[in-house]
Amino acid sequence: MFPLKGAIEEDVLRELDKKTADDLTFDSGKILGSMCTYPHPFAIRVITRYIDRNLGDPGLHVGSQKIEREAVNMLANLLGLEKGYGHIVSGGTEANILAVRAMRNLAEVEKPELILPESAHFSFIKAAEMLGVKLVWAELNGDYTVNVKDVENKITDNTIGIVGIAGTTGLGVVDDIPALSDLALNYGLPLHVDAAFGGFVIPFAKALGYALPDFDFRLKGVKSITIDPHKMGMVPIPAGGIIFREKKFLESISILAPYLAGGKIWQATITGTRPGANALAVWAMIKHLGFEGYKKIVREKMELARWFASELKKISGVYLIREPVLNIVSFGSEKLEELEGELKERGWGISAHRGYIRIVVMPHVKREHLEEFLEDLKEIMGTLTQ
Ligand SMILES: Cc1ncc(COP(=O)(O)O)c(C=O)c1O
Repeated sequence: MFPLKGAIEEDVLRELDKKTADDLTFDSGKILGSMCTYPHPFAIRVITRYIDRNLGDPGLHVGSQKIEREAVNMLANLLGLEKGYGHIVSGGTEANILAVRAMRNLAEVEKPELILPESAHFSFIKAAEMLGVKLVWAELNGDYTVNVKDVENKITDNTIGIVGIAGTTGLGVVDDIPALSDLALNYGLPLHVDAAFGGFVIPFAKALGYALPDFDFRLKGVKSITIDPHKMGMVPIPAGGIIFREKKFLESISILAPYLAGGKIWQATITGTRPGANALAVWAMIKHLGFEGYKKIVREKMELARWFASELKKISGVYLIREPVLNIVSFGSEKLEELEGELKERGWGISAHRGYIRIVVMPHVKREHLEEFLEDLKEIMGTLTQ
């Protein structure tokens, strides 16, 4: 009910604390199945300081708009491009929708079709429904990468583009983006790479010597990339990223916003009013951590994921779905449903809806949390397999 009279702040906060007491928090170490994390304290400071900036009306906040452009360019640089075009958006979903929108608008075919791996994130289903695009799903190989031959077989005159994934949602698998890029170039189609998760992992993992395929703008067929700072970038939610290789992609999705206080602009994002503070936090975190800082985080989490995978192998009744590629470890069990229920009962933030349990070794996940989880897992499997 809408209250008639206001309450003092302390009372309201007390009520909020009470009502959120059932929430799992990232700093508890119990959330093991999420791609979000506890934001970096410096990012929180930046957000608090610039909370009022609205990039939906950049004429009012020209400094913030310039910083967003710089942040987009720094992300483009990380992804092998000197200058990129795009935005800091609300997340991977909006970034993927914008990419599909650009591919559709530039293709100008009557019955647009998009070819994407069976492992693609459900945001493409939203994009397809909103944009009137038919999704054509390509099969996966035994190692869960997309079957490039099957992608080729599915190309028609109606195809508007191809999607490849650099860090799948379920398993963290990186598709053969070099082969998809060649294919896209051969057929004159744009390739969109969904690196919502992998974008802030793969460049650093490669620098650490992990054998991962190229996935970014260094490949000429790649025309757009989704990269989310609110996942491994450690920026508070919402902070996604969409980067286009050429200006024409952004222009193809820009709508005239005529009445704004700061003057009329061309706007490409789905959201109108949108948080400038988060874009500033992306800029600030990249400046603060630098390539070396992110590399250090990625090293720790990649090593922890491999240790965790090796410990899982020692537990009878569970099996790895595949060796980890990034900092994601997924495992199955004959007793999956019961196991999921028992783990949730013990307060673990995991889910098994894909047919396996996914552990994302995010920055807030420490070795002691995983040790505790393994103990619970051993105990539960002991009783389930008796
Ligand atoms: C590969 C991939 N793309 C897109 C998304 C959607 O991102 P968001 O939840 O930030 O909209 C996710 C989310 O997990 C993802 O894993």
